[in-house]
Amino acid sequence: MAKNNQIELTDAEKRDLTERIIAGKYLPEKYRFLLFEDKSEVELVWNGKSRDVCNTILPFQTLEHIDEPRKEKNANEELSFDSRGGQKSKWNNKLIWGDNKLILSSLRGGPLRRDIEEAGGLKLIYIDPPFDVGADFSIDIPIGDQTFHKEANVLEKVAYRDTWGRGSDSFIAMIYERLILMRDLMHPEGSIYVHIDWRLSGVVRMVLDEVFGAKSFQREIIWRIGWISGYKSTASNWIRNHDTIFFYTRSPENFTFNKEYIPYPSDYVRRDGNEPSGKGYPIEDTWNCSKMDIMDSIQIKSFSGEKTGYATQKNEALVERLMKASSNPGDLVADFFCGSGTTAAVAEKHGRKWICADLGKFGIHTTRKRLIQVQRELKKQGKPFSAFEVLNLGKYQRHAYIDVSHRLTGKIKEKALAAKEKEFRDLILKAYKSQPLLNDEFFHGKSGNRIVVVGPVNLPVTRLFVEEVISQCRQRCVTRCDLLAFEFELGLFPAALDEAKQKGIDLLTKIIPPDVFDRRAVEAGEVEFHEVSYIEATPRTDKKDPRTLTIELTDFSVFHQQGQAKKAAEELKEGKSTVICEKGNLVKVSKDKDGKINKEILTKKWHDWIDYWAVDFDYESRKEIIKRAKGFGDKGEKDVYTPEDGSFVDTEEVWSGNYIFENEWQSFRTKKDRELELTSASHTYEKKGRYIIAVKVVDIFGNDTMTLVPINIQ
Ligand SMILES: C[S@@+](CC[C@H](N)C(=O)[O-])C[C@H]1O[C@@H](n2cnc3c(N)ncnc32)[C@H](O)[C@@H]1O
Repeated sequence: MAKNNQIELTDAEKRDLTERIIAGKYLPEKYRFLLFEDKSEVELVWNGKSRDVCNTILPFQTLEHIDEPRKEKNANEELSFDSRGGQKSKWNNKLIWGDNKLILSSLRGGPLRRDIEEAGGLKLIYIDPPFDVGADFSIDIPIGDQTFHKEANVLEKVAYRDTWGRGSDSFIAMIYERLILMRDLMHPEGSIYVHIDWRLSGVVRMVLDEVFGAKSFQREIIWRIGWISGYKSTASNWIRNHDTIFFYTRSPENFTFNKEYIPYPSDYVRRDGNEPSGKGYPIEDTWNCSKMDIMDSIQIKSFSGEKTGYATQKNEALVERLMKASSNPGDLVADFFCGSGTTAAVAEKHGRKWICADLGKFGIHTTRKRLIQVQRELKKQGKPFSAFEVLNLGKYQRHAYIDVSHRLTGKIKEKALAAKEKEFRDLILKAYKSQPLLNDEFFHGKSGNRIVVVGPVNLPVTRLFVEEVISQCRQRCVTRCDLLAFEFELGLFPAALDEAKQKGIDLLTKIIPPDVFDRRAVEAGEVEFHEVSYIEATPRTDKKDPRTLTIELTDFSVFHQQGQAKKAAEELKEGKSTVICEKGNLVKVSKDKDGKINKEILTKKWHDWIDYWAVDFDYESRKEIIKRAKGFGDKGEKDVYTPEDGSFVDTEEVWSGNYIFENEWQSFRTKKDRELELTSASHTYEKKGRYIIAVKVVDIFGNDTMTLVPINIQ
């Protein structure tokens, strides 16, 4: 033990240390406890452990707003809810798409923090991080009576590699940083439940002890999963059948806990023959394990109804139990690995406010549909429901990528930014497998016999930009051109492509996928660029009332490709079939007993590609106001605000130049109901004038596309 704050080493130890350092040798473990002042008695150490957590603050972009599930034909029905879906406070529930590291740091130190505090602070977090290797990102998509197995996209694979690529070290590093960010965001009396399985429960408990303090450990809950698939029960060992849920609180003593009981069975009589007194059996820390605690029958009866097709989906009954215990109606709860949105669904049904986030597009889309269904159900029952918005860090993540140091100013900064942009453009060209064109003022690359132009990094490609591309192509006798962009201005298609065609130019417009941010994916040549999807929506005016109309979806074209058809067919066993995505079609490939291959196109109609579509009858009625750190834009839109000390920042509100999609009517397929309506309910405009109708389509892979339809109401 150190006396008077002095290192206590024997002469032999001093000699040993010096010799080892001079010889460039590693020091034995024992010196860790002899040399460092700031040491814990028990601590988990892993390769790359660092106490530095992300403190980047990016503004959130609002993609969509869902006030109420669906405007019905019966107008009176709508009137029973106010314009915010019966919501009394100014809080909007939030579904955020993106990496939860950036989301958490932006929530922690950014402008939304104030909204969180005003909503009473974050009282409860439930997380179920991806410990089931890779299962979350590949999904089964129903198509007719077949199923297409969609592989993870590159961004998702990267998240998977970051989490699992180096085994449990990388998982622990990932969860440690996020848990610190979550802790800092929590209300001082808040609670957190971390759902994990046998693979990592030991180490996660130690990480939680370190982040929250061992005194804040409350319970280790054992949840018997309940159903066991055939192959698992054949193990010649104890059958694995539980997950672990760690319950910690921010303060060891002060936290919400509403004790829950399992009611006595109806035929229960006390030993003395009297009626039972009290509320029932207090719930223990082993759940779904006894006849009394029949969560498994809840699972059998209702879980099938809850099922969204998301492989790692958890029971609502499970989340409901912990949410009722550790929060009260009106409290704000969150799940930063939300998957299919179980936490959001339970929160909505039990009157809690919520924030949910996921990196997977498909998870966000599944949650959106699930929550609309919950809203519809609550509305049907005459119960209040809340509005929610879909957010992301979208273009600001791009800014973060090409940002340069804040310390640079003037010409030096401009030069540094230009160099960074070029470096980024070269990366995009590389991902597109094209050669950069040196010394060309306008065109950026060449791919086979096609010329490539990369649109601006921080702005959508506008009509003017496309016209410039067409004019440059004509001047330079270019007849084949690929225009790559992160975003295209709404309403650009198909007019812009028709114009190019008329002028003899074969123009392809492709979306740059977010995967280009990952250098490893680019190096591996795994990034795929898809052509922009195209929607045709036709307004149909009511013959008797010119102010009333419906929207009919009349066409949708999309192009997807995954894997190699030939390889899939070769690998197929005789008598088996699989569904693949080839040349923009989903194709069922079967091999008969004699090894003969048959192919059947499943996406026969254009609407087979559509999973969901929605209408905003007056798109320009709601401007997107973003809250951002003061000064974020003053130094040029590319600046990303990262306070040096992670402190709270001053904020301002500005119009982003975009509008928020108000999800007024929608139709979608569910696991049970595969039908899709192609005509919306009617909408009546109160005043005559010019309106812009926005139509959003989400394809069966979870990708959004939107088109604008201008109309004149007389
Ligand atoms: C086990 S699943 C959660 C399932 C969820 N409890 C449910 O009931 O549907 C884990 C989720 O974490 C998400 N995820 C993984 N890494 C992430 C990250 N860095 N940021 C945000 N979400 C992430 C995955 O997309 C996946 O949906």
